[in-house]
Amino acid sequence: MNPIPVNEPLLNGNEKKYLNECIDTGWISSEGPFVKQFEAQLAAQMGRKYGIAVSNGSVALDAAVVALKIGQGDEVILPTFTIISCAAAIVRAGAVPVVVDCDQDTWNMNVSQIESKITPRTKAIIVVHIYGLPVHMEPLLTLADKHGLHIIEDSAEMHGQTYNGRPCGSFGAISTLSFYPNKHITTGEGGMLLTDNEHLAQRCSSLRNLCFQPQQRFVHEELGWNFRMTNLQAAMGVAQLERLDEFVERKRCMGQRYTELLSEIPGLQLPVPKTDYATNIYWVYGIVLKEEVPFDAKEAMRRLAHFKIGTRPFFWPMHEQPILQKMGFFDGVSCPVAERIARRGFYIPSGLALTNEQMEQVAHILREIMA
Ligand SMILES: Cc1ncc(COP(=O)(O)O)c(C=O)c1O
Repeated sequence: MNPIPVNEPLLNGNEKKYLNECIDTGWISSEGPFVKQFEAQLAAQMGRKYGIAVSNGSVALDAAVVALKIGQGDEVILPTFTIISCAAAIVRAGAVPVVVDCDQDTWNMNVSQIESKITPRTKAIIVVHIYGLPVHMEPLLTLADKHGLHIIEDSAEMHGQTYNGRPCGSFGAISTLSFYPNKHITTGEGGMLLTDNEHLAQRCSSLRNLCFQPQQRFVHEELGWNFRMTNLQAAMGVAQLERLDEFVERKRCMGQRYTELLSEIPGLQLPVPKTDYATNIYWVYGIVLKEEVPFDAKEAMRRLAHFKIGTRPFFWPMHEQPILQKMGFFDGVSCPVAERIARRGFYIPSGLALTNEQMEQVAHILREIMA
């Protein structure tokens, strides 16, 4: 059997044509026209006024935190079940990460735990939509409003998803996206900040470009970064964005198909197909091994690897990260749901290039390794 990679993107639209345009015209840096086009089109798609393209989704979070002037003495609430980029952005800015556990069905942050974590030092909440379903935004927005907190919406995994009909990527002061090849649309590496606030848009734009000043370019009032996206990456992004609806539709079909194929296998908790406010877009197809299964995710992944089936473990909780514990964060914190799914969860091949036949092979092998 040929190996089945955990992810393979689909690049058979206008990607080559637009990349050739970059080469033919010599526009390969961030000054090229595709960058502005990608920013404008993506912002429009997500219902935002401004898009600021950056080099990946992790640095988008760094810029968002600093743009909102979050720093020393501030606390930021985030889900423990997320990627390190979220906590790293908070910690690098000098602020303190405060975590909430996740929901056992959707794997998204448990919104009902947020209020008890709010203190006079709390400045913001980083909302992260996990694996295909959005966070329940309504109570969260009300809470943020009540306590005057900023929301940074990490929508890295959520292109094309909506919450009660409103696009993910349109919530809060700033939203961030990633275009890594496992995302619904990819630029190889890449990210975007989205906002409706002109001042924040200017700050994000300045922070991504070393805080060069318009009047005196090489005189700096603030320290920024070079987080710029190249015209080559943006050319890919424009081509990919043309197919976003088609890609989301395909991912939904893939998710439904996997569920049909896997629902008869005992011991597997599968993704929730829909909630009251959204239908799953299955960014990845996650599986959690139920308690009765006598082995953990590591062993399941090892068995699948034996049959050349690519997998990835679930995120490892922030409060269990050695580096963050060494820095003195999360003393005595426990989040039992995230701790369990981190050990018992993994995802199977979910990329857009995956064929129906490959999905059937994955399901067949999964059935064998669970027997
Ligand atoms: C929720 C979330 N945020 C941020 C990122 C980081 O994005 P990037 O890999 O582009 O740095 C990822 C990457 O997968 C992610 O899943």
